[in-house]
Amino acid sequence: MTAAAKQHLIDPEICIRCHTCEMTCPVGAIEHDDNNVVVRAEDCDFCMACIPVCPTGSIDNWRVVVEPYTLEEQYSWSELPEQADLGSGGAETAIEALDETVAALLAEAHAGAGGKAKAPASAAKPTVNMYPVSKPAKARVQGNYPLTKDPDHDVRHIILDLGSQPFPVLEGQSVGIIAPGTDANGRPHLPRLYSISSPRDGERPNFNNLSLTVKREKEGVCSNYVCDLKAGDEVAITGPFGSTFLMPDDGEARLLLICTGTGSAPMRAFTMRRQRTVYGKSGNDRPDSGRPGGMTMFFGARTPDSLPYFGPLKKVPADLLDQHLVYSRLEGGKKEYVQDRLMAEQDKVAGLIGDRRTHVYICGLRGMEEGVERAFANIAESTGRSWAEIRDIMREEGRYHVETY
Ligand code: A2P
Repeated sequence: MTAAAKQHLIDPEICIRCHTCEMTCPVGAIEHDDNNVVVRAEDCDFCMACIPVCPTGSIDNWRVVVEPYTLEEQYSWSELPEQADLGSGGAETAIEALDETVAALLAEAHAGAGGKAKAPASAAKPTVNMYPVSKPAKARVQGNYPLTKDPDHDVRHIILDLGSQPFPVLEGQSVGIIAPGTDANGRPHLPRLYSISSPRDGERPNFNNLSLTVKREKEGVCSNYVCDLKAGDEVAITGPFGSTFLMPDDGEARLLLICTGTGSAPMRAFTMRRQRTVYGKSGNDRPDSGRPGGMTMFFGARTPDSLPYFGPLKKVPADLLDQHLVYSRLEGGKKEYVQDRLMAEQDKVAGLIGDRRTHVYICGLRGMEEGVERAFANIAESTGRSWAEIRDIMREEGRYHVETY
């Protein structure tokens, strides 16, 4: 019988290098170089602490191996190797017991989801990791604007100018910001990842700039650094990252956008991209002359004062973006989450998820994912369909995208 073992690996194609797994791993088994984030086979004890914190699911990969892949091999990958054929069943038998333990832990850590995320077939090809941790780009702060009126809930719109450095991005990608200084162990801070909230041609069309939507977190080293930046400050920026949470390059695709709080960043980028291309600048001329698929957004926040981009959203025409803004802390109002509104709008949602042209994007608080899935399951069931089946097809076709944190 072959002595085989299960090895925990990270999918370098999907990983957005947010380093959350690395910060979470209780035994320090995860490390990185400029290329990839990798798992040291000899140290990983399958505790699964890293699985639920990963925003993309890239962490959730396993191979049965006779010889574990070395760190050098993992660092060199641009994609995960297929499961090797280990021969006549011996290896499988040897790892059976381990498999059961891992499967049980995984089910607990990562209930429901599964399946590999894919980019939309028509999406433009993203550039990834052009500026790694050791060679970050230098951006200059062009502006830092408050987006919320609630002093206990400070969300900022930060505009970064890349000057003459090439920094090609697509809507839905993220960048890393490296806060200056060192951590408690005297090591330089790891980059913190923020989703880009501007479209590929810049916050201002054809300027080499991009914007971020950043919430100040209590004790958050990087978020406080970013929220306090002043115009003219220089910032070290890594990336871009992300190769699946991307827009279809197809004006006829219908987009269903579901977000909370700063999860609205990519949705803003998608909306601006559509506004500048499918709909043209005026909002009603349609240069691609195709049949615009339209966008429907469910956006959850505490109150209108704490909903990022509330003012600009009001100016977006309804035929470009059908908006459902829902609030959880309205004075005298009933608490409402995005999943509650999905249920309240179930005919509309059923029409969307039943349409092969629809792409779903979910971004924001982790807890929302389960609630949204439950709403989808109820809605699908009400039309006699299985949500799991619909979701699997959507995923396979690169039409289902989740980034939660
Ligand atoms: P809550 O009032 O319960 O905190 P922000 O990040 O700006 O606080 O916004 C997040 C929004 O998402 C809030 O309205 C928050 O409501 C809401 N929220 C919290 N937990 C969930 C959940 N599990 N599902 C959906 N929305 C949620």
